[in-house]
Amino acid sequence: MRLAQRMSRLGTETAFEVLARAKQLEKEGKKIVHLEIGEPDFDTPRNITEAAIKAMKEGWTHYGPSAGQQDVREVIAKYISDTRKIKVDPDEVVVTPGAKPIMFFVILALVNEEDEVIYPNPGFPIYESVIDFIGAKPVPIQLREENDFRLDVKELKKLVTSKTRLIIINSPQNPTGGILTLDDLKAIAEIAISKDIYVLSDEIYSRIIYEGEHHSIASLPDMKERTIILDGLSKTYAMTGWRLGYGVMNKTLAPHIARLMTNCNSCTASFTQRAAIEAITGDQSDADKMVQEFRRRRDVIVKGLNDIPKLSCLTPKGAFYVFPNVKKIGWDTKKLADTILSEAGVAVLSGTAFGKFGEGYLRLSYANSVENINKALEMIKKFLADL
Ligand SMILES: Cc1ncc(COP(=O)(O)O)c(C=O)c1O
Repeated sequence: MRLAQRMSRLGTETAFEVLARAKQLEKEGKKIVHLEIGEPDFDTPRNITEAAIKAMKEGWTHYGPSAGQQDVREVIAKYISDTRKIKVDPDEVVVTPGAKPIMFFVILALVNEEDEVIYPNPGFPIYESVIDFIGAKPVPIQLREENDFRLDVKELKKLVTSKTRLIIINSPQNPTGGILTLDDLKAIAEIAISKDIYVLSDEIYSRIIYEGEHHSIASLPDMKERTIILDGLSKTYAMTGWRLGYGVMNKTLAPHIARLMTNCNSCTASFTQRAAIEAITGDQSDADKMVQEFRRRRDVIVKGLNDIPKLSCLTPKGAFYVFPNVKKIGWDTKKLADTILSEAGVAVLSGTAFGKFGEGYLRLSYANSVENINKALEMIKKFLADL
């Protein structure tokens, strides 16, 4: 089959491939502990599910506005205004099926083929995939363990050229769990303002944070106009399968992102949007409990990994991933991840699934029970001891 050339530049998210391999092994009778996929293992809180059922029964089963229902955009605008301490209007919000389309749409809308985009590496693989896909130049900035997996602002300055159109940041970060400090954000903002660059700020894990509070670059002076905040309900409310995300951006850009929605999806599911009102404005105790449970699991997994010879692991400050250093084992990391799955029965991702600077690291998601985490730790320990 002759595919269009651009398809050769489209990447993927390895987590879904490893999940498929793990499921196949399970079919063949093998027991697998799943630490590969980035989704909360909790059920969506009941009040949200019930709001969706009620909405379906009331007839919220038709097309709606491409940018999202007006009252949903109002609720999101108020939530972002309150949490980021900036004034956001409803017409600065575009609702999308999951937060991922915001990456695609923003890059499509802002970046020309000859432009450059700076993005974190290791980082969420879809950034690089989409930059490549549209024919722009991906410029990775390495996140180093020695720097708590925060980007180095001096390095960022060196990577910026007259062609840099967009900087992508992600805090709390997937896959490292790292967090950018307020000082980091101020320095990035200074660069963005002085060089007239847009910032796509992926804040999907803003509510899953264990120390201090979340800071958004959009809250800094003169940054709201040049920042696109990406956020959504997938992680905070265990709603990955619902597909409900959004972007917050200036009024000039928003209609163009909505036009991309019209071309791609028409609109986000109507009853899902009604449930989003309940999620954001209703009882938050289930969402808060999930974070407490993630913290407990984080402490178990970090201690367990550091107790295994040849492994070392920083304590992540947010999200639900650990990124242990496996360099002392001396294996190619992809081979190590594949063998841990086939031999030890633990599905993990190679750090290289998040870019070339992920070599030497594994990513484990701790969105699984403490019991399963302990089982996985034991299996990995035994596997490495037998090498
Ligand atoms: C950093 C990051 N951004 C965005 C997303 C996508 O979120 P959604 O499922 O709402 O599209 C993910 C999901 O894994 C993520 O890790």
